[in-house]
Amino acid sequence: MKDVLLELERRRAAARMGGGEARIAKQHEKGKLAARERLELLLDEGSFEEWDMFVEHRCTDFGMDQQKIPGDGVVTGHGTINGRLVYVFAKDFTVFGGSLSETHAQKIVKIQKAAIQNGAPVIGLFDAGGARIQEGVASLGGYADIFLQNVMASGVVPQISVIMGPCAGGDVYSPAMTDFIFMVKDTSYMYVTGPDVVKTVTNEVVTHEELGGATVHARKSGVADGAFENDMEALVQMRRLVGFLPLSNREAPPVRPSYDDPERVEPSLDTLVPGNPNKPYDIRELIEKTADEGDFFEIAPDYGKNIVTGFGRLDGAPVGFVANQPMSLAGVLDIDASRKAARFVRFCDAFNIPIVTFVDVPGFLPGTKQEYGGLIKHGAKLLFAYAEATVPKLTVITRKAYGGAYDVMSSKHLRGDVNYAWPTAQIAVMGAKGAAEIIFRAEAGDPAKIEARAKEYEDRFANPFVAAGRGYIDDVIQPRNTRLRLIRALRTLKNKKASNPWKKHDNIPL
Ligand code: HXC
Repeated sequence: MKDVLLELERRRAAARMGGGEARIAKQHEKGKLAARERLELLLDEGSFEEWDMFVEHRCTDFGMDQQKIPGDGVVTGHGTINGRLVYVFAKDFTVFGGSLSETHAQKIVKIQKAAIQNGAPVIGLFDAGGARIQEGVASLGGYADIFLQNVMASGVVPQISVIMGPCAGGDVYSPAMTDFIFMVKDTSYMYVTGPDVVKTVTNEVVTHEELGGATVHARKSGVADGAFENDMEALVQMRRLVGFLPLSNREAPPVRPSYDDPERVEPSLDTLVPGNPNKPYDIRELIEKTADEGDFFEIAPDYGKNIVTGFGRLDGAPVGFVANQPMSLAGVLDIDASRKAARFVRFCDAFNIPIVTFVDVPGFLPGTKQEYGGLIKHGAKLLFAYAEATVPKLTVITRKAYGGAYDVMSSKHLRGDVNYAWPTAQIAVMGAKGAAEIIFRAEAGDPAKIEARAKEYEDRFANPFVAAGRGYIDDVIQPRNTRLRLIRALRTLKNKKASNPWKKHDNIPL
C-alpha cells in the first residue's frame, strides 16, 4: 500500500514541476511567475483543487511521443477567493510554451462546463504561444471548443482573463469573448498575428510591445480593461474585483456589512461643480465620496477617459458606476466612451448589479472622424444597453444633460427608476449659445443680440426645474445628500421586477 502512495506523490511532484526547474527559472528571470505560483496568489491559501494534472497530449508527429509532460501546458481546477468558489486555468509557459493541444483544450473546456453548471466565475491566466504547432487541426478544433464554451458562459458566469505573457493567435479570441481582460505591463502582449507576420504582410516593422503591449490595449485599442505593474499586483486586484461580482446570473451580488454610515452627508459636494459651466471637475471625486469607504474598482481607466466606469458599493451592496468625466473632452460621448460604457452597462445588467449613473455631458462629439468611425452605431450601443437593462437604474444629473446624450444617460424615458438632479443641472437640447444661434439665425450677425438670446435660453433651461416640472426628474437634491438619497432609492428597488418582451436575443447595433 505504501508504495502506491509514494508513487502517487512522485507523480504529483513531477507534474508540479511542469517544464522543469530551468524553465521555471527562466520565467522568473523575465519577471513572470510560474502557473502554479500565480494560482497560489490568486486563490485563498490551500484552497486550490487541481484537476487533470496527469493529462498528457496524444500527438505522435514530429517526435512528440517522446516528449510528454503531465498537465500538458495548462493547470486547471477550482479554489476560493475570500471563501467563494471560482474555477481557474493557468497556462504553463514552461510546458511547450503553454501552447494549446487537443488535450490541453479539453482540460479548459471541462473547467468551463463545470463553472456554467455549478454557477461560479472562470478566471483564465494566459501566458502562451498559441496553437500547438505539432498538432495542426486538432489544436484548432480545441480552440473552437473553448470559444463555444466562452459564448455559452457569457452572461451566465463572470469570465475574467489575465494576460501575463505572450498571447497570440488562437489564444486571443477566448479572452476577447470574456467579460474583462487585464494585462501585466512590460511582460504581456496580445495580438492576432505577431511582428514577423506583420512585416511580411504589411511591411510594417513593430516590436511586440508596440503591436500589442499592455499600454496599447489599455489605452488605444480598448481591448484590455486595465494594466498592472506585475503579476502580484494583477492577481491581488483580481481578488478585489471578484469581491464585487455575483458568482453567476442566478444569484444576487455579494452584500457585505458596511462600516460606512448610509446616512453620511458630504458637504464638500455642494461646491464640486464650479460656477463657470465650462470649467471641469473630477467626477471621480463624486464616485469616491458616494461609494462605501470610497472603494472604487475602475474598469478601463485609461481608455475612453471621458466616461468613468467601475464597481463600488452602496450600503454594502455592489453597484456599477457610470459617469461622464468633465476632466476629459468635457465629458462628451464619443465612439470609445459609448462602446466602453455600453459593454459595462450590459455586464451589470447580465449579473444583476444595479447601475448608478452620474451625468454631466455636453452631447455627442461632432466631426468627420467620429462620423466616419460610425458614431451613430456606437452611440446607439450605449442607448440600447441602457434601454434594455432591467436592473435598478439610478441617475443623478450634476450639470449638463444636453441633447441626445440626455436621453442616453439612463434617463427616465429609458426606464430610469429614480432620476435625481443637483440644483446645478442644465437639461436642454443644447448649450445656450448654440441654441440661440440656430433659433435666432436672423440675428446671427449681431453678437450682442445673440448673447441676449443665449441668456434668455439659459434662464429658461439652465436648471433642472423644467425637467422636474414634467416628472422627468423625480427630485432636485442637495449634492451633499447624494449618497444617502441613492441608498434610500436602492432600498426601494430591492424587489424590483422588470422584463423585456420575449425574444430569441436582441440585435444590438454591433
Ligand atoms: C509548440 C511552442 C509554441 C507553439 C512556443 N513553443 N510556441 N511549441 N507550439 N505554438 C515552445 C518553443 O518551441 C519552446 O520550446 C518553448 O515553447 C518556449 O518558446 P520560445 O520561443 O523559446 O520562447 P520566447 O522566446 O519567449 O518566445 C515566445 C513566443 C514564441 C513569442 C510565443 O515561442 C512564438 O512565436 N511561438 C509561436 C507563436 C505562434 O505562431 N503560434 C501559433 C499561432 S497560430 P523549448 O522546448 O525550446 O523550450 C494560432 C492559430 C489558432 O494560434 C487559431 C484559432 C482560431
